[in-house]
Amino acid sequence: MSKAWSPESWRSKPIVQVPEYPDPEALSEVEATLSRFPPLVFAGEARALKEQLARVAGGNGFLLQGGDCAESFAEHHADNIRDFFRVFLQMAVVLTYAAAMPVVKVGRIGGQFAKPRSAPTEKQGDAELPSYRGDIINGPDFTEADRIPDPQRMLMAYRQSAATQNLLRAFAQGGYANLEHVHSWTLGFVGNSPQGHHYREIADRISEALDFMRACGVDADATPQFRSTDFFTSHEGLLLGYEQAMTRVDSTSGEWYDTSGHMLWIGDRTRQLDHAHIEFFRGIRNPIGMKCGPSLEPDDMLRLIDALNPDNEAGRLTLICRFGAEKLADHLPGLIQAVEREGRKVVWSCDPMHGNTIKAATGYKTRPFDRILEEVRGFFAVHQAEGTHAGGIHIEMTGQNVTECTGGAHAISEADLSDRYHTFCDPRLNADQALELAFLVADNLKQARALAPRPDVAAAGAVVGF
Ligand code: PEP
Ligand code: CO
Repeated sequence: MSKAWSPESWRSKPIVQVPEYPDPEALSEVEATLSRFPPLVFAGEARALKEQLARVAGGNGFLLQGGDCAESFAEHHADNIRDFFRVFLQMAVVLTYAAAMPVVKVGRIGGQFAKPRSAPTEKQGDAELPSYRGDIINGPDFTEADRIPDPQRMLMAYRQSAATQNLLRAFAQGGYANLEHVHSWTLGFVGNSPQGHHYREIADRISEALDFMRACGVDADATPQFRSTDFFTSHEGLLLGYEQAMTRVDSTSGEWYDTSGHMLWIGDRTRQLDHAHIEFFRGIRNPIGMKCGPSLEPDDMLRLIDALNPDNEAGRLTLICRFGAEKLADHLPGLIQAVEREGRKVVWSCDPMHGNTIKAATGYKTRPFDRILEEVRGFFAVHQAEGTHAGGIHIEMTGQNVTECTGGAHAISEADLSDRYHTFCDPRLNADQALELAFLVADNLKQARALAPRPDVAAAGAVVGF
């Protein structure tokens, strides 16, 4: 790998999952326009997230990362963003309270538009068209016009990301995330489910604790950790022309940051050592993630870690494991042992979604909720056996009352999937399922904590907020 890096050095490397734009000149013009637009995040914020993740790498915190598989132009509504944020906050409360762990909050939102595909084309009957690659590239309708990659979509994605990130900042910092409102985040359709009741018990106890502090003279309203929270954004850095255009030199440090989101990750299909995506990611200073699927061997992983985090900086690299419930035990221990042997500092996160996708008899892509829970349980069990910290989860979820993953408290069956199947890509957890998962993770964290030395909660919590 050559030492010289620039935001465009990826262009001389082999690349996969790249759309074929019919008009390269129009593409260059859009990229030039984007490179003059304001950044969506500041380098200082990305550094703050890296510091929080460094604490997670050291065992003092937990990463909650989640959101849509793919954001879409059609579903860009304030209500969708708000409802997602409410469920996300509830999960964070459950994890923070039940596990007494500071939670680092990272949404898969505000830029999650580009999708890798297993096949370059899609067939319907006799017709064959290019696959849908996410709204930033082409359209979801099965028509020739929609499936042609259109660079103008990048401008639309930028503007939607800006609006989404703006609203999320307002929610996180402007009072919506105040712990006093812990009861009000429950969505109507969750209120009467077992998860809704369980959540209410925790919310009651938090309210009592706040009352108690107030009675003791602690002014909760004047304490920023209770009034607001740190919320960060992330997406897969797949469309490198867009990411390059958003990459700028930070004037304080003189280093390059991709300002399209706080954290970016490399997908399981684009992590070839000598390819374009690794080249691009090694030069940006954001905290980054790398998906680890069953095809990743420990030696290859170590070489990738060398390329992506040569200084062994804690918080820089999160390994997002997505093996599938059945394969996890065959793959995860070897990777953990290699990392431990070589003394690499990473955050281990579990994506229990992408290795557990199946096609229902009805034709819908789905994920059995039991398999998702099983992969998470397995992830904690392996970490416990290896003496390492299960540091996070990475999930596809929505605040909408969808029927996309089977199982859960409402026992969604394959026949129910057609009721409210709205995803533009992969099936997501609905609010009930997301909360149930949060309770499971909290239990596992609590058990792990009982066996391990007490984490330095005070140091981590001071920065993270509730
Ligand atoms: C995703 O996160 O939506 C995705 C495509 O994941 P992976 O790269 O792990 O398949
Ligand atoms: Co997905």
